[in-house]
Amino acid sequence: MMDVREIEGWLLESAPECLAALWAQADAVRRRWVGDEVHLRGLVEISNRCVRACAYCGLRAQNQGLIRYTMSAGEILDCAVRAAELGYGTVVLQAGEDPALRADRVARIVRRIKSHTPLAVTLSLGERSDAELRLWRDAGADRYLLRFETSDQELYRKIHPDLPGRASDRMRMLRYLRDLGYEVGSGVMIGIPGQDYGSLARDIAAFQAMDLDMIGVGPYLPHPGTPLGTGWLPRRLPESRQVPATVEMACKVVALARIVRPDANIPSTTALATLDPEQGRELGLRRGANVFMPNMTPQPYRGAYEIYPNKACIYEEARACRPCLEKRILGLGRTLGRGPGGRTRVEEISK
Ligand code: 5AD
Ligand code: FES
Repeated sequence: MMDVREIEGWLLESAPECLAALWAQADAVRRRWVGDEVHLRGLVEISNRCVRACAYCGLRAQNQGLIRYTMSAGEILDCAVRAAELGYGTVVLQAGEDPALRADRVARIVRRIKSHTPLAVTLSLGERSDAELRLWRDAGADRYLLRFETSDQELYRKIHPDLPGRASDRMRMLRYLRDLGYEVGSGVMIGIPGQDYGSLARDIAAFQAMDLDMIGVGPYLPHPGTPLGTGWLPRRLPESRQVPATVEMACKVVALARIVRPDANIPSTTALATLDPEQGRELGLRRGANVFMPNMTPQPYRGAYEIYPNKACIYEEARACRPCLEKRILGLGRTLGRGPGGRTRVEEISK
């Protein structure tokens, strides 16, 4: 167990020898609890339409600088089949909050993937109703990803406006997903303008308290089509308290997430690879992560799923990440994960 003060102390640490000890501890915990396998999850960005107005995200409804798309069921199924052919154990269907992705349509797609492939299916479709989440679980969806973005409610409300008449309560939704039997993933952005060290430390303490199955964290990257990316500040913060969106800070959060949730599946994220295209993927994997989520979205949609600019692998074809990743993973002395790669709980390992 680590308390919030200790976590905050690590976030403020800058001595190289202390950080080396943190990386080593996170790597040792990772090896002990989830082993050397790196699980690959094929990410398919099935729609970039979104009704929300998040101040940080390029998919926000008000951004007119994007060509909008919703993939057809056939296109999505083709991607899933390709993910299975490439040896990925999981397909992740991610989108903005797109009303065209009606509940019954999504359920049908999930059922088709589950009957045509051996893949685990992860959904990441934003804030949806209890009835929809239940329908998709009944259709066979295995996991759901929904970052809470920041546990700082004042900051969250400013950067993530509610829909009219419907207060955003992601913590409640995450509990409901768990009750439905999904494996549940969440996480935060690192270095959001207005995010201070105490607030980020409480995010990490929340990972511990929430018993998350999956934890995804990445640096905040400014998008010029958004308020937050063009100088708007949700609140004033002395510079010394503002969390920087750096590779080192993102690695600290990956490492601390691993230490507080030893058996969780933790990806080395695209945002980290975007901030450091050469080394970012490896740094994440060496400092606590055990998962990678290669982008499988077909061109030209891939370029249009612009949550933030210059996303890693934006010009690649779906297959291209596979050999690149294999080389990177084997180069670290790690192995390619086999099977769906769900969570094995600590209690089951220690038996
Ligand atoms: N920079 C980094 N990450 C972002 N996300 C959204 N916008 C940005 C941004 N500008 C993250 C959010 C969201 C996930 C899909 O992408 O955490 O949950
Ligand atoms: Fe996509 Fe290397 S991970 S090309």
